[in-house]
Amino acid sequence: MSAKVINGKLIAAKIRKNLVERIESLRKNNVIPGLTVVQVGDNLASTVYVSRKEKTAKELGLNSETIHLPNSVSQQELLNIVDGLNNNPSIHGILVQMPLPGQIDPNLVIRRISPEKDVDGFHPENVGLLVLGTPRFIPCTPAGIMEMLSMEKIDPAGKNVVVLGRSNIVGKPMANLLLQKADGANATVTICHTKTKNLKQHTKNADILIVALGRAHAIDGGFLKQGAVVIDVGVNRIEDSSRKSGYRLVGDVEFESAKEFAAAISPVPGGVGPMTIIMLMVNTVMAAELI
Ligand code: GUN
Repeated sequence: MSAKVINGKLIAAKIRKNLVERIESLRKNNVIPGLTVVQVGDNLASTVYVSRKEKTAKELGLNSETIHLPNSVSQQELLNIVDGLNNNPSIHGILVQMPLPGQIDPNLVIRRISPEKDVDGFHPENVGLLVLGTPRFIPCTPAGIMEMLSMEKIDPAGKNVVVLGRSNIVGKPMANLLLQKADGANATVTICHTKTKNLKQHTKNADILIVALGRAHAIDGGFLKQGAVVIDVGVNRIEDSSRKSGYRLVGDVEFESAKEFAAAISPVPGGVGPMTIIMLMVNTVMAAELI
């Protein structure tokens, strides 16, 4: 059996169409959603993500700006910039790209962003609202995965869903969303991490497996239950001398062997990545609508 490949690009394009109408009706009220992304340093992966966010925001006609700061920026300087963005009424969404250099405490920065402009959904107030089942901004990657499952008519209700990875950006909010008492959720959720024993015993029990480990090809077909749905969040570079760049992007899942066991699988690239970007746009439009 070969799995259905879940086309994140196509699903993101559908969501985008829907978003255009919302942007248009905001425009009629003289509101143009404004998004500012702050990038500190020149981490290559961050630069790729940030430029994709900017490109999509511009295409949708949002007011989009990226502030690039040197790696040496002080915590106070960054906090002052966040304060300025919080106080600027034409900016509806603020995103500070992670990771940040060692001299900056990311928690302090996240807490400084106005919760009403926190389109990443990382502020403790937004995290709390999500955990309580009354979400405002949902972190973009898990929100995108929920949309993906819904558009593919994969209902997690009563299923064993295993989330690999416990990050604040993906694993924890993902698990919380899936266990909500709500349509499109209601799953039985297990979170596995670096200290989990007998990982395979858990993954083999997963009807839906969400992999956010950050390790190239960490999971292959041998970890899967026959007929599982596999969502691959990883984006890793591996050497590939056949490419002009000398590398290619792969997920955390070894696609070729996994697709022989899975019923459906999201590829890398073209799976979760485009969903994350479009959900940031959705959150930014929502932030503008909330005003
Ligand atoms: N770094 C990796 N993913 C993300 C994300 O979704 N938001 C932010 N701010 N930083 C990230």
